[in-house]
Amino acid sequence: MILVTGAAGFIGSNFVLDWLAQCDEVVLNLDALTYAGNLENLASLEGDARHLFVKGDIGDFDLVASLLARYKPRAVVNFAAESHVDRSIHGPEDFIQTNIVGTFRLLEAVRAYWGGALEGDAKAAFRFLHVSTDEVYGSLEKDDPAFSESNRYEPNSPYSASKAASDHLVRAYHHTYGLPVLTTNCSNNYGPYHFPEKLIPLVIHNALAGKPLPIYGDGQQIRDWLYVKDHCSAIRRVLEAGRLGETYNIGGWNEKPNLEVVHTLCAILDDLSPRGDGKPYKEQITYVKDRPGHDRRYAIDATKIERELGWKPAETFETGIRKTVRWYLDNQAWVTNVTSGAYREWLGKQYGA
Ligand code: NAD
Ligand code: TYD
Repeated sequence: MILVTGAAGFIGSNFVLDWLAQCDEVVLNLDALTYAGNLENLASLEGDARHLFVKGDIGDFDLVASLLARYKPRAVVNFAAESHVDRSIHGPEDFIQTNIVGTFRLLEAVRAYWGGALEGDAKAAFRFLHVSTDEVYGSLEKDDPAFSESNRYEPNSPYSASKAASDHLVRAYHHTYGLPVLTTNCSNNYGPYHFPEKLIPLVIHNALAGKPLPIYGDGQQIRDWLYVKDHCSAIRRVLEAGRLGETYNIGGWNEKPNLEVVHTLCAILDDLSPRGDGKPYKEQITYVKDRPGHDRRYAIDATKIERELGWKPAETFETGIRKTVRWYLDNQAWVTNVTSGAYREWLGKQYGA
């Protein structure tokens, strides 16, 4: 069994679906079901004994300790986090609580379990894999080389600062207590079950709803896009063969300016689901005020994971983005459900959407 935290969210749910498509090892899913967590993502596993769900907080030491004692997982994969930069700018508190304090308490519970309950081979085989982001490295200039694992941490947003703090704690638990940890720092993901507050699903959703497609600033900020299933396969590989205490950067070698991404989405939608009035979706593009402290460019050098672990992404941006648009077209009920209620109110305030 493995314990996966935050597995009702975007990447975590894709990870569980991918994991159980590859093997029968049971997944214990611990998720607080915040606005970003949605069990509908895992509806295809209903009645499947290989998926156990517990609603709870990674910061609840007693709960995590009791789950570890009861289920004795051989690994913990930590996806649980507050993940949206804009939200961290408007209200950093939850990011500090979950990403820093929550990760700390989770580490404490795992340390007690690993140091106390496990022995011999089980202790030696145990892994704590912490899922993190390339945003901890800060922002690149146009001609800078991509982020490698030896780049300095220079986080700029409350989100990236909170993730950086959690990475440091994970590193310290290895260095100080010998906890068998692995850390992955990944670039921007996209794909199914992506909550429509992030650029790609927001643009698809707004385009189909006839709403503005908000471009922050000049739209020339660069992100390095990775199809979510490729991220999942990389995490599986790191869990299987990563060297203890190491960090692995994960990316898809797909640097794109935001405006280009939005134009690509509009063109695919023009093709797959043309507007009723025959006009192109790009007419809905609207330039809005830039995000404060907006990082200009992220790019991942994924050489280490390829060289050491033989991992490479399977999708190009062109194949992955088309699959993604198709998924959103086929799953509009999912989007409606996750964008109801409180989220819609918040979104309305942010974007007038
Ligand atoms: P998400 O916001 O879609 O999902 C986060 C999940 O964590 C949700 O299900 C939520 O309910 C749960 N959660 C939040 N607080 C919790 C708590 N205190 N206890 C238990 N569960 C809690 O995020 P995501 O995009 O799937 O990201 C997953 C992880 O990957 C995060 O750690 C994020 O920093 C990292 N990451 C994301 C990206 C990306 O592009 N989305 C890229 C690199 C790294
Ligand atoms: P986002 O998906 O929020 O991911 P991150 O901030 O973690 O990279 O944003 C991706 C890029 O798109 C980022 O440069 C901000 C920009 N962006 C917009 O231009 N408009 C939007 O409505 C959103 C949500 C993001």
